Amino acid sequence: MRKALVTGITGQDGSYLAELLLHKGYEVHGLIRKSSTFNTDRIDHIYQDPHDPNARLFLHYGDLTNSEQLTNLVYNVRPDEIYHMGAQSHVLVSFEMPEYTGNVTGLGVTRFLEAIRRSGIETRFYQASSSEMFGDAPAPQNESTAFRPRSPYAIAKVYAYWMTTNYREAYKLYAVNGILFNHESPRRGPTFLSRKVTRGVARIKAGDQRKLFLGNLDARRDYGYTPEFVEAMWLMLQRDTPRDFVVGTGVAPTIREFVEEAFSYAGLDWKEYVEQDRRYFRPTEVDLLQADASLARKELGWEPKITYKPLVRIMVDADMQAAGLTPIGEGLRLLEAQFGKWHRWDTGVTAVLNHAGRGVD
Ligand code: NAP
Ligand code: GDD
Repeated sequence: MRKALVTGITGQDGSYLAELLLHKGYEVHGLIRKSSTFNTDRIDHIYQDPHDPNARLFLHYGDLTNSEQLTNLVYNVRPDEIYHMGAQSHVLVSFEMPEYTGNVTGLGVTRFLEAIRRSGIETRFYQASSSEMFGDAPAPQNESTAFRPRSPYAIAKVYAYWMTTNYREAYKLYAVNGILFNHESPRRGPTFLSRKVTRGVARIKAGDQRKLFLGNLDARRDYGYTPEFVEAMWLMLQRDTPRDFVVGTGVAPTIREFVEEAFSYAGLDWKEYVEQDRRYFRPTEVDLLQADASLARKELGWEPKITYKPLVRIMVDADMQAAGLTPIGEGLRLLEAQFGKWHRWDTGVTAVLNHAGRGVD
């Protein structure tokens, strides 16, 4: 049985990726942080009691700032594949915590690469690189576009990108960068734009919220659907030779268009509810991210089905359900029509929203 180690398994991407790997028959090991409250909401529906002889999901406490722990984990688990999803991933927060972001999001990668090199194990390493690294480089951006990062987060990711590249070249590690553009889902953290909006729409509909305060509405982002993106991550580690790939849909609405789409899907006029607040603006913004993912299409056979309009429907429906409303239903129908069972709404999202709370020993 193939073994995978997933950092950031409690996050949006890590949770979908763990589902995909379990579905493919892997034994999955996840790194989670110690917290005084339950922080496993997104993976409760796939949690397995480690005492169960058939268990294939195992959780390990650890922190990306602690190299000794990471080295022990790599050495003891000896995974065939490592998917490094863990990071301080919020761009605006990185301006408030630049040093911490550098430590976790940048140096965390070096700690892993060193653990692999020192342990001498045969493994494949996936680094969660980001389109934020392109910053204000002209769009559309692809694997050859030079980086012009505009935030401490993006700068930490550029460092991690080059460390991954260097370990591939210097030590012949199978180590790759997936340069992923924005991808969203009902499991997206509620302080990221897409989820803040779809959750806000549902709460306004339910009468639990009156206004939605947002920052810059003029930026453009290339929005895709996360379950499709974790499939690209897996495909990248199945190739004979390691190579970096850009992954995105190529469709990049303005934030204003995204907001308008979400409110109008729910039958609301966004102008009546949205107000701008300076606190959500970034000191330096990235104006336009738009992927040229032609290499991924050609070499990985990866083709996204969901762009931002269907994405909005999926997310608003999920948040309406979470707010106790009857979803409009187009999002659910889209998922049923487009995808297989492993990331269907009812087996994934609903279970997460109904979370009962479960930790590890
Ligand atoms: P996310 O939801 O913010 O998840 C981040 C994960 O990292 C969480 O599991 C978090 O644990 C964990 N983590 C944070 N600090 C840690 C630390 N010090 N030690 C151990 N674990 C730590 O992010 P995501 O959207 O799933 O993104 C996954 C990765 O892809 C990130 O590296 C992100 O930068 C990158 N990325 C994301 C996108 C996107 O559009 N989503 C695009 C490009 C690249 P807690 O749950 O305990 O907080
Ligand atoms: N979060 C947030 N909150 N963003 C807002 C708001 C708001 O109230 N109002 C406007 N925005 C704008 C931001 O200024 C940005 O231009 C855009 O909405 C998207 O912001 P986020 O959803 O926070 O995502 P991001 O694009 O900065 O970063 C995400 O995508 C990157 C890949 O391009 C994160 O997931 C990063 O981890 C990831 O690397």
